[in-house]
Order: sequence, then structure tokens, then C-alpha cells
Amino acid sequence: MGFNRKMQGFSVLIFLFLLFCGHETSHVVKRSIDPSASYPLITDDRLPKDVIPQSYDIYLEPNVEENIFSGHIKMNLTWKSDSKKISIHAHFNLDINDRKIVLRKINKNNSDSQLSDNVSVVRGSRFPKKTIYIIYLKEVIKQGTECLLEIPFEGSIWESGEGLFKGSYSNGTYLATYLRPNNARRLFPCYDEPGFKVPFTVSITRPSHLVTIFNTPLARTTNHSILKDHVIDFFETTPPMSSFTFGFVTSNLVKLQNEVKPEAELKTQSEPVINLWGFEDNVNQLKEVREKVLLAHKAIQSYFEIPLPLSKIDVVVIPELPVVRPVDNWGLLLFKESDLMQNRYYDIAQELIYQWIGSWVTPEWWTDAHLNKALASFLASEIVIKLDGGIEFNGKYPMTTLYSIYYEFSKRYPHSRITAMKQETISYKMELVIRMLNFTLGKDSFQKGLRAFIENLQFKTFVGNDLWSALTTQAVKDGTLKSQYNVADIVGTWFAIHRLPVVTARRDYEKNTATIQQKLYLRERPHDVPEQDKMVWWIPIVLNRQDALNFSNCSPYVWMEKAQQMTINNMPPNDQFIIINQEEIGPFPVNYDERNWQMLSNFLQTETGRALVPTYTRSKLLHDAWNLAYAGDLGFATALNMTLFMKFERNHIVWNPVFTFIDQIGRHIDMPEVHKKFEEYVLILLTPLYEDLGAEIENEDNWKTDLRSLTKRFLCGAGYRPCVEEAQNAYSVWQHSSDPNLENPVPNHYICPIFKWGTMEEWQFGIQRVIEFPKSRKQSERTYLLKTLAGCPTQPEKVLRLLELSILEDNSNFTENDQFLIFSSLTGTSNGYYTLFKFLSDNWTTIREKLKDNTNLWDHLIGSATGFFLTQKGYDMVQQLYEQHSGEFGSAQHIIEKSLRNIKEEALWSEANLPVIETWLNNFLSKNSSKSS
Ligand SMILES: *[C@@H]1O[C@H](CO)[C@@H](O)[C@H](O)[C@H]1NC(C)=O
Ligand SMILES: *[C@@H]1O[C@H](CO)[C@@H](O)[C@H](O)[C@H]1NC(C)=O
Ligand SMILES: *[C@@H]1O[C@H](CO)[C@@H](O)[C@H](O)[C@H]1NC(C)=O
Ligand SMILES: *[C@@H]1O[C@H](CO)[C@@H](O)[C@H](O)[C@H]1NC(C)=O
Ligand SMILES: *[C@@H]1O[C@H](CO)[C@@H](O)[C@H](O)[C@H]1NC(C)=O
Ligand SMILES: *[C@@H]1O[C@H](CO)[C@@H](O)[C@H](O)[C@H]1NC(C)=O
Repeated sequence: MGFNRKMQGFSVLIFLFLLFCGHETSHVVKRSIDPSASYPLITDDRLPKDVIPQSYDIYLEPNVEENIFSGHIKMNLTWKSDSKKISIHAHFNLDINDRKIVLRKINKNNSDSQLSDNVSVVRGSRFPKKTIYIIYLKEVIKQGTECLLEIPFEGSIWESGEGLFKGSYSNGTYLATYLRPNNARRLFPCYDEPGFKVPFTVSITRPSHLVTIFNTPLARTTNHSILKDHVIDFFETTPPMSSFTFGFVTSNLVKLQNEVKPEAELKTQSEPVINLWGFEDNVNQLKEVREKVLLAHKAIQSYFEIPLPLSKIDVVVIPELPVVRPVDNWGLLLFKESDLMQNRYYDIAQELIYQWIGSWVTPEWWTDAHLNKALASFLASEIVIKLDGGIEFNGKYPMTTLYSIYYEFSKRYPHSRITAMKQETISYKMELVIRMLNFTLGKDSFQKGLRAFIENLQFKTFVGNDLWSALTTQAVKDGTLKSQYNVADIVGTWFAIHRLPVVTARRDYEKNTATIQQKLYLRERPHDVPEQDKMVWWIPIVLNRQDALNFSNCSPYVWMEKAQQMTINNMPPNDQFIIINQEEIGPFPVNYDERNWQMLSNFLQTETGRALVPTYTRSKLLHDAWNLAYAGDLGFATALNMTLFMKFERNHIVWNPVFTFIDQIGRHIDMPEVHKKFEEYVLILLTPLYEDLGAEIENEDNWKTDLRSLTKRFLCGAGYRPCVEEAQNAYSVWQHSSDPNLENPVPNHYICPIFKWGTMEEWQFGIQRVIEFPKSRKQSERTYLLKTLAGCPTQPEKVLRLLELSILEDNSNFTENDQFLIFSSLTGTSNGYYTLFKFLSDNWTTIREKLKDNTNLWDHLIGSATGFFLTQKGYDMVQQLYEQHSGEFGSAQHIIEKSLRNIKEEALWSEANLPVIETWLNNFLSKNSSKSS
């Protein structure tokens, strides 16, 4: 998976990408929640702006043994209006003695400045329940006055990555800071908002055998006057910066010696020196990392063409750093060792980009942090593609993200389950919209606009509109955007609606026109989302036509300006197709009239056609056709026709969506005869690919290994003879072993095909292994066996036997957990739930009696046995059971009623689509099966 950064930390299952073999052995995409995605949710209390800081002078003295620190801060403040109090941020945990606070006015005479006598501080107190500290003064201080405020403080060193924290590795401890988003107030009282950017002059005490690295280079070191073996480091004054970008590390790590390279000597004075810090015995790895950091920095520098106002950037590699994301202080990056060892450019590039957009140009408030993150992610991808051609992403940028977003946003209720994921998804969507601008405005305008943005806002903060207006100005100047258009309007629609549109183009082949419509993209049925008519977007219609194919031109033929519908003229002749939104320029699927689809299908079946249409576009056409058919917006015959070219397709990116669909459509075919034909179709579709991929060879590309294994799993699931035979051979070794309970020698991917396509004896042998499973072995292996024994078979007698054994017969070989698991596993295939239903209705009285004291299991049984039918026939069966046993369902009454409602909806789909699918399959099989078997 290309996007590892998004997979670290505490993982969350965002969606089940593929479910195969009819049961729940899932291929799951895991991604972590990036905590910075939730910053917009910070409800922080802003400080008044009547008194604002000009500069800070800070001294810190950590005491590692006692987990505390002390220090003092001097702030130069300016009164913007008359005020009798000063409000600053200070965490509850930061101790401040208000009697030690000193405030003095600064009298400026010409160039000379003198401090006046103290202004009396009446008291200092905390704002209830807020991390705000208010200093009340005896007198009102007049607007325009400057003062020096001095506050001594004490605080705690934390163990988790917040504020100042202590960490350890094999042979030592270290101190480090993580102040994002608003934890500077745990370390010193200050104006802890991104907008207050001031220079910091900092000194820090440390034991003399360690070293402290700070935002800026060391200026000098002196001995500590009291603490033995301690010294004080004085650092150069920082450029004006926000409090959250403050950071330091005190450790015994060492700096990798910079070899003087000719290139380094040529380096212009204005670019920062990059230093790497880590363990001495990792020198070789550190060198590689530095190589990458230097290359990435160079690429970013040449993209922005503006050097950072820093004289150095220290990159510190720390094992076990307890943070989810790298720590990006200005001029000081802290990486977890394991992150860098993955040897990728992406994370490095992203953190470096934050030095420009984040630290130098900073989001005005955390609500804009989304945008900052999306922009940095996009630019990091741009840099990776520049540096290695996108190999690091397996060529899949931005497909992995895009498909998951299509999937999530087309639900009736997106993000109904995991709210934290919502922020993350919104940020991905923003990234895709930024990518859309890069293509539609053109890379040059985008890049120049961004440069102007940085130049205008350096040392300042920005809101979204600052970026959009910089891009607008540039694009209008370059003629890539009409002068009456505005990027803010365009992106506004994409950010305001947490959904995506689908565009439909219907051509009039007589008049050479096309009607283009946009509407809310919904895949999940029913399409009854309220107010969907009000959802309209600014959509770039980038158009390609068969008579003038040119996939490098990404400028829109026309923009849909929040219009639901428009007509475009001058379409190609009526035997030539059009393609809209090639290469997924904008994050939206596109539908066409059937004739245009058919022309596309025919074209892709020719070798020249496939060579002319680039990968992402082939992938998109396939992906969109299937999804639109699934959603009910396109006939299945047309969508299935779009798969015909897959016979020749060998690119893994194009194959990717196919597996998802084989799985989803496979499960939606709730008619055994049709399902069987569908499996034959899958065999014919996948066999040539599998044979072409050949046997695995050493050091082959990852994508090849992945594609082979996916293909094989699906082929096995569809009963590919060679696979079933291999599986049976492997299984017979187990059957003949002297002690089969000792271990299972059969690879997991063979287990399901055996229980599905193998004999009753083979299946019985499996059951026996579950029953005799030794307590000493890993129970997850037993669970896997039981799940497959229940979920895989297509023969009802296997399932019935298992149900009798585990539910009806009085034996303690199966636990209640097993029973839950069996019911769940049976919901994965129509054979499973049909058999479970039959079992329930045939043995109603016995089962009802047995489960009368176990409502959980009873409810689960009713849900599993009735909730998964998709056809009218299934509806009638459940309805009959409902009437027959009316009043006997007890706690499960509402469950069966819900099942009935769902089946009704699904039955409409089946009624509309299954006959079409069956006819298409009949036709396909009559032309293809003789050749393939
Ligand atoms: C803050 O005020 C003090 C006292 O006048 C002065 O010495 C110091 O230079 C000022 N600091 C900055 C950064 O202006
Ligand atoms: C600590 O351990 C690391 C890794 O084993 C080693 O490189 C380093 O030299 C050690 N440092 C000290 C001070 O012993
Ligand atoms: C931005 O657009 C240019 C071409 O216009 C393209 O080469 C580049 O890959 C795009 N960047 C990303 C990250 O997609
Ligand atoms: C599917 O393709 C076949 C063969 O090219 C064609 O005869 C049929 O009309 C197509 N079906 C649709 C709905 O386009
Ligand atoms: C468990 O299964 C074994 C083998 O089928 C059977 O002999 C035994 O009686 C069962 N145990 C119980 C407690 O029913
Ligand atoms: C369950 O139902 C089946 C089919 O009607 C029947 O053959 C079997 O004897 C029943 N089992 C029990 C324990 O009632």
C-alpha cells in the first residue's frame, strides 16, 4: 500500500476493501488516525488582542530525576489599547506564583530604552476551566506603552508526547518537546496561538555530558553557577515564530559528520545546512537518510524557489519516539527511527514542506490546519513523483485514497461509525481538490501562485482565502482561469459539502451536442438523502475526444458553475467516443449514455486503443462503470461489457477495482444458478492473467506478488481446477499425518477452497480437527477453521451437519462463541443463509426452546438467518416465517421486521439487475467457455 504514513500508529479499520471466498476473511486496509486531522475540532479560547507580545526571552532548567522543570520568561509587550490586565496562556499544570511576577514599563528615549519602576500587580488568577492566566494590574496602562513582563514558573516533565517529555532508549534517557497544537503553555506561559509570531531568545540548562539541539544554532555555553556538572546553552535568537513550532531535544545522540562535498561547498549561503543526529552505530543508515533529506530538500527548494530563513535544519532520529507523527519544530525535526527506516521520501518531504507552509507561513487557526495538511501532503506527493517517479506509491497515487473516498462519500450516511476518520477523510478530499487545481490551472500557474502566497505571507498567518486569491491572481494572469472566475468559489463548493458529485454526459448524436448533468453521487441505496438538489459543485469538464485524443491537456473544456445541467456543442462525429475527467483529475465519477460506453468498450478491446488510453483513465472507466451499475445508474450489460478488455489488460492499477467488484457483485447475486455462471465468468476473466503472471520469482516487484496472490485467491474461490487440486494435495498430507491435531500443515489460502469444492470426507476431517483442537495450540487457528467450515461450503448438507452438531446435539464440543461465529459465517454466502433459514424453520420449536434463555444468541440467529436475502423469493420466505410464528420472536421481533424492510429494497435491485446479468453471462459463456476449459 502506497500510503504508509497513514498506516502508522493506532490503526483503525476504515473499510473492508475486499471480502472473498464468501466468508469474512477480509483483506483489510488499515490506516492510522493522524491526530493533526482533529486539530480543527480544538475549541480553544482565544486571547484578547489588547496587549500583544513583541519578543520572548526564556530560560529553562529541567530536573530529569524529579520530572520537573523551572524557568522564567521575559516578554516584551505592547499595549494596543488601554488595559488594566494581561491575559496569557498557561496550563493548569504550570505553577506561577503571582507575587513573583514583575512588570516594568519601557521608556524609549530616542534609541535608548530604560526600564521604569514596577507597575503593581494586584493578583494573577486562572480563568475557570480554561488554560488562561490573567494578570490584574493596579493601574490602567495606556495604548502604545511597551512593557517588560517577567514570570518565573515551574512545571512537570511528561512521559507521553505532550509538552516537555522524557523518553528512553536502550542506554539512556532523553528530553524532548512536542508542543503541537497548543502545548507550549505546558512549558512556559505565553501567547499560545499560531498568530502571535515573535522572536525567541532561549537558554537551557543540561548535564554537561549531553547535548541540546534547539530551533536555532548554539551561540555559546557557560557553566551553571550552582548545579555541578551542568552547563547553560544560549541559542541564537529565532526568526519570528509561533509558539507551537518551539522545540528542543537533550540527549546523548551524536551528529553525523558532514562530509564536505563539492556540491555542499557550492551551496549558496542562504540555504540551511542539514544535520543528522542519531546513534553512532547506525551511521550507514543515517547517511542514507541524510541523502534522502538532502535530495528532498533540494527538490522542495527548487519547487518553491524561496530559501527558508533558517541557517540549519537538524534532523534527529530517535528510537521509540512516543508520537504518532514526526515532530516538526522550525529548524528541528524529530523522527521515530522506525519511520525513517522504511526508507521513503514521502514522510521526509512532508515534514520539510511544513518548514515552509506550517512554520514560516502558518494557518491562522487550527480550522485551517486541514488545508495546511492537505497542501503539504499534495506537495509531498509531487516531490516523491519528481524524485522516484512515484515508485514509492506503487504507482497508485492518488488511487488508494481516492477509491476509499468514493466509497465513503457515496454512502447514505458517510462516517456514521467513526467520527475521527471523518476529519481525516475531509483532509484527503481537500488534497484531491488541490490536485484538481494543479491540473486544471496547470502546474506552472499553481506553482507560481504558491510561491507568491509564501512570499506574501512569510512570518505571517494565512486563511484559505489567502491561498485561493494567490492562485486566482496567477491563473488569471496566465490565462488558465477566466478573469471572472475565482478559485475560492470553486473550492468552496467542494469543501462545504462533505460529499462528492457524479457527472453524467448524454450525447445527442444527431445534433452533435452533449447534455452534462451533475448530482450527488450515491452508491448505497436507496438514494433518498435529503436536500440533495441543493448540492451543486464547480466542476471542471476536462474533455477528451476520440478524434483528437490528447491526455496531456488538462485544461477544462468548460466549468460547470454550480449548474445542475448544461449543454456543450461541437461533439465528435457519432462513431467517436468522449471521455470526461481523464486520469481522475477531479474526484468525481462520470457516467455516459450507453452508446458512448459501448464505443469505449470496443476501443479498449483493441490493442491500439489500450495503448492510447493511459492507465488511470482505463482504471477509472472500469471503476466508474461498475460502481454506477451497482448504484443503479447504469445497465449491468454495459458495465460488464467494460470488463471485456480485461482479457488483455495486465496493469495492476487497472485490475485493482476489479477484485473489489467481483467480490461485491458476487455477494449480491442471491440466486445460485446465476451465481454459478458468475463464477465461470470470473474464471475466464482471471485465468489468462494468472497464467501470464507465472510463478513467483525472487526480487520481483511488490505489485506483481500482490496481484498474483489476489488473482489466485479469487480463482481458487471460483473453483479453478489447478488450484483446487493443489489444495487437495496439500490437505491430504494433513489427513495422512500420524497426529493431525499437532499442527495444520495446510496454507490458509487453501482451506476455503477445500471446504467449498472438496468432498464431504475432507470437510468431516476438518470438523474433527476443530472438536479435538488441543487447548495448548493457538485458538485463532481453530477459529479460522471453524469460520471456513461454516462459511465456505456450497453444499447444504455440510452446513446442516455443522448446525446439528453445534446447536441441536447436546454436546459441549462447541462454545457459545462458536455458535455466534457459525451464524455470522453463514451470512457470507447465499448457500449459508438459505441453509440457516431452512434449519431454523424446520426445527423452530426445538431451537426456540434451547435458546429461550439466551436472547443474544437468539437475536443473532434471527438476524443472520433472515437479514441477508436480496430477492423477492427470499422476502416471501422470511415473510412466511414471520407470519407462521407471529408472536414467537420475542426479543428478535424488531430484527426480523428490519430484515423484511431491507430485503424489500434489495429485491428491487435484484429484480432489475439479475435477469440482465444472467442474460449477459449466458451470452458471454456461450462464446467463451468452450475455449477456456
Ligand atoms: C525587550 O525590552 C528590553 C528592555 O527594554 C530590551 O532590553 C530588549 O532588547 C527588548 N527585547 C527585544 C527583542 O526587543
Ligand atoms: C547507546 O547505544 C547505541 C546503540 O546501541 C550506541 O550506538 C551508542 O554509542 C550508545 N551510546 C552510549 C553513550 O553508550
Ligand atoms: C501536477 O500537475 C502536473 C502536470 O500538470 C503533473 O505532472 C504532476 O504530477 C501533478 N502533481 C501531482 C502531485 O499530481
Ligand atoms: C455488449 O457488447 C456486445 C458485444 O460487443 C454488444 O452486442 C452488446 O450490444 C453490448 N451491450 C450493451 C448494453 O451495450
Ligand atoms: C465431542 O465430539 C466427540 C466426537 O464427535 C464425541 O465423541 C463426544 O461425545 C463429544 N463431546 C460431548 C461432550 O458431547
Ligand atoms: C430438524 O429438522 C430436520 C428437517 O425437518 C429434521 O430431519 C430433524 O430431525 C430436526 N431435528 C430435530 C432435533 O428436531
